Amino acid sequence: MSHPNAAGVTARAHSNIALIKYWGKRDARLNLPAVGSISITLDALYTDTRVAFLPGLEADRVDIGGRRADTTRFSRFLDLVRAEAGIDTRARIESWNNFPTGAGLASSASGFAALAVAATRAAGLTLEPRALSVLARQGSGSAARSIFGGFVEMRRGARDDGLDAAASPLLDAADWPLTVIVAITEHGAKALDSTAGMTGSADTSDFYQAWVDHAEPDLAAMREAIAARDFQAMGELAEHSCLKLHGLMLSTRPGQIYWNAATVAAMHAVRALRADGVPVYFTIDAGPQVKALCPPAHAETVAAALERVPGVLETRRSALGPDARCHD
Ligand code: DP6
Repeated sequence: MSHPNAAGVTARAHSNIALIKYWGKRDARLNLPAVGSISITLDALYTDTRVAFLPGLEADRVDIGGRRADTTRFSRFLDLVRAEAGIDTRARIESWNNFPTGAGLASSASGFAALAVAATRAAGLTLEPRALSVLARQGSGSAARSIFGGFVEMRRGARDDGLDAAASPLLDAADWPLTVIVAITEHGAKALDSTAGMTGSADTSDFYQAWVDHAEPDLAAMREAIAARDFQAMGELAEHSCLKLHGLMLSTRPGQIYWNAATVAAMHAVRALRADGVPVYFTIDAGPQVKALCPPAHAETVAAALERVPGVLETRRSALGPDARCHD
């Protein structure tokens, strides 16, 4: 049995956006992905999470941004940590995002990565990053990637126990500086969460099998583009994976339309910039926000153009970020 740290532990993990998207599960209980994915970790968007295992506490308690949250998903995750540590103590979790929660900005990615780091340390465990990634995956698939900074690949894995379904770093943030401009078009929480959305696609979309079958060639091409630091190849593949994902979402029954008018206008604005010679590509997750990828030298131009798009409420700018870690 390990010795929980009753004073609590705080960890910070950064959000990430996928360049090659994850959508679909091959095992719901262990949260095993049907496809691999490749992402970049964002420096400017992060979650800080504090965990304390407190003897005498009758139930887990979770506050996100100072508001009491439903504990179901978190207690299930803490049970994995408790089982590993051989403890039964309930925990208090306090978490803050420095960006809108649940609006397609990957709060579950940074949230469960920060929770994995803080909860294991607070429970007295010392886990390697790869084991933290396996654990974080069971909270949210994209969280497995937020354990690492820079360019990250999440392997689909082949084992039934999921021990090989983990992320690993491809390239450090400093090795290929990039800027991501996030165009926020809606502040509210999204209507349908990713877990329900991907189950719907697997059950009802005629495109789902094609999505799964074509994941490997997309991943291989992206690995190559990143290794060569080929911005155009990386951008074209990222836009393709994004539009293919949204094609899959649209072909789900009922169709999943995550975009609003400003989302579409921002995509056209990115393509208009490109036609003018600015190197920039977009990607979009299960929400209405548009993330534009460009070399840092073009960040001003891209941000200014996106801010002129009707319906874009604000932009956030980010470099690539570091690994998840404990901090005081
Ligand atoms: C569209 O990781 O949120 O952002 O594993 O069910 O928690 P769960 O799903 P989640 O899905 C992310 C979907 C995506 C694409 C991606 O990040 O790869």
